[in-house]
Amino acid sequence: MKHEFNSAMAFSKFYLQQNYSFEGEAVIDATVGNGHDTEWLLEAVGPEGHVTGFDIQAEALESTRNRLGNFENLALQLDGHENLMQYGFQEIACVLYNLGYLPRGDKSISTQGTTTIQSIQAASELLKVGGVIMMIAYPGHNAGKAECEGVESHLATYDQRRFQTWKFTFLNQKNNPPVMYCLEKRRTS
Ligand SMILES: C[S@@+](CC[C@H](N)C(=O)[O-])C[C@H]1O[C@@H](n2cnc3c(N)ncnc32)[C@H](O)[C@@H]1O
Repeated sequence: MKHEFNSAMAFSKFYLQQNYSFEGEAVIDATVGNGHDTEWLLEAVGPEGHVTGFDIQAEALESTRNRLGNFENLALQLDGHENLMQYGFQEIACVLYNLGYLPRGDKSISTQGTTTIQSIQAASELLKVGGVIMMIAYPGHNAGKAECEGVESHLATYDQRRFQTWKFTFLNQKNNPPVMYCLEKRRTS
């Protein structure tokens, strides 16, 4: 076996690395948390690219700033990703969501189906042709199950001539394994 994946996030990053180049592109981390995915995106876009991160918890942004330090090409917004339309983005190459709650944080502050879907809708409009939205969702916690169901129904509505949407999960992991959802804006119809 060349690569073994036991996490949906590791698999999603591998998928993105294999199929996309974000060098010099503008991208969004829709759920900054402790900034591990922000860090990955910063490396992926390089010095000529730009990363905007959203989180509703000041604690999350602070932890990320402390860990990563300052980057000229990183903007961290203390705001919900459902408001991303208000930030004057032009063309976005990638939007990454790691849904749920902040690890080791307050589990009651979690992403919610309604706002996640609003945000995906807005992100799909801002996405450049050939761009991608990747979402990791966790059906194993209270808000997570309904969020997965909502996201899945929403992704099924996109016109297949313009978008490709799909999901991946582990069939034999116990206790509601994470689900990877993806929306790709097609180059050709
Ligand atoms: C699973 S954590 C993200 C992990 C993170 N990407 C990392 O690398 O550490 C989910 C984050 O989403 C944030 N969140 C919840 N609702 C949100 C919203 N409407 N907009 C943006 N972030 C939100 C939470 O505060 C939490 O920090």
